[in-house]
Amino acid sequence: MSGAPPRLLVARRVPEAVAARAQHEFDAVMADADMDADAVLQVVTEKGIAAVLSGPTVRLTAAHAAALPDSLRIIANPSAGTDHMDVAACRARGVIVTNAPDVLTDCTADLALLLILGACRRASEYERVMRSGWRQSFGMPDMLGIRPGGKTLGIVGMGRIGQAVAQRARAFGMRILYNNRRRLSPEQEGDAEYVPELRAMLPRCDILSLHLPGGAAGMLMTAEMFGLLPRGAVFVNTARGSLVDEDALIQALESGQLFAAGLDVFRREPDFDLRLAALPNVFLTPHVASATVETRDAMGFRALDNVAAVLAGRAPIDPV
Ligand code: 8YV
Repeated sequence: MSGAPPRLLVARRVPEAVAARAQHEFDAVMADADMDADAVLQVVTEKGIAAVLSGPTVRLTAAHAAALPDSLRIIANPSAGTDHMDVAACRARGVIVTNAPDVLTDCTADLALLLILGACRRASEYERVMRSGWRQSFGMPDMLGIRPGGKTLGIVGMGRIGQAVAQRARAFGMRILYNNRRRLSPEQEGDAEYVPELRAMLPRCDILSLHLPGGAAGMLMTAEMFGLLPRGAVFVNTARGSLVDEDALIQALESGQLFAAGLDVFRREPDFDLRLAALPNVFLTPHVASATVETRDAMGFRALDNVAAVLAGRAPIDPV
């Protein structure tokens, strides 16, 4: 890249290695706190920014997109999901939008297995017992969990992450059913069984795990859908809270329709519904599926790779 390095706005706090690369390769404007859409629009306009490394707090609407300056070429998200922004409006404004797939697949699948095991084996209840001092031994029939081995895991959304979860679940002896917009190739599918109709798959799932994007899919898991699961099923979500009717989820957990749930994402974040925190049979994590040193660095680098490509006149690596 000849002449003055292009101006990049890093609109959120990022890991040190990502910040170092951004400042080395670009004329980088670094946010010291996660910015919102109004603040991003103001800085992009005032400083003639060519690229933005964005984040979930930058909830760009169609109105923001329409006001974006001509200088802006790309909005790069260091995340798989882009449901926090109006991608179509930004594209219509001539701005390229990218995400960061692949690099977070393994860590997200690992956390999904943690939630499956944590929910099935009552990990948060055991943790609470120990942190309150234990002091009371359990008898043979007490505080029993359920064994995932030999159970049927239903995966909704069999993309990169869904397939990585299936691979891990097989190692725990689970049978795999999957629902997806299209059937996978035999190599990708392996011994997993494709069920094109979600309503036909749910009654056969002892454990259900969501791995589809939020946004367009709307609210998928309603009271009716939870009711189609076998009584005593386990529900896991590392995808998006917007896919779930949380009142119906709470009702199903309280009634025993669900034995337990493992949740990393919520309708509102971080001010999630505290009724979920009060339920004993829920294993909760604060939207940290990709939260490892290795993966967060890789997510930031992937976003910078997309910025570098577009600003050098090449095609984006991960257009959405
Ligand atoms: C991110 C995620 O950590 O990539 C995604 O879509 O949900 C997470 O990996 C989250 O978006 C915050 O950036």
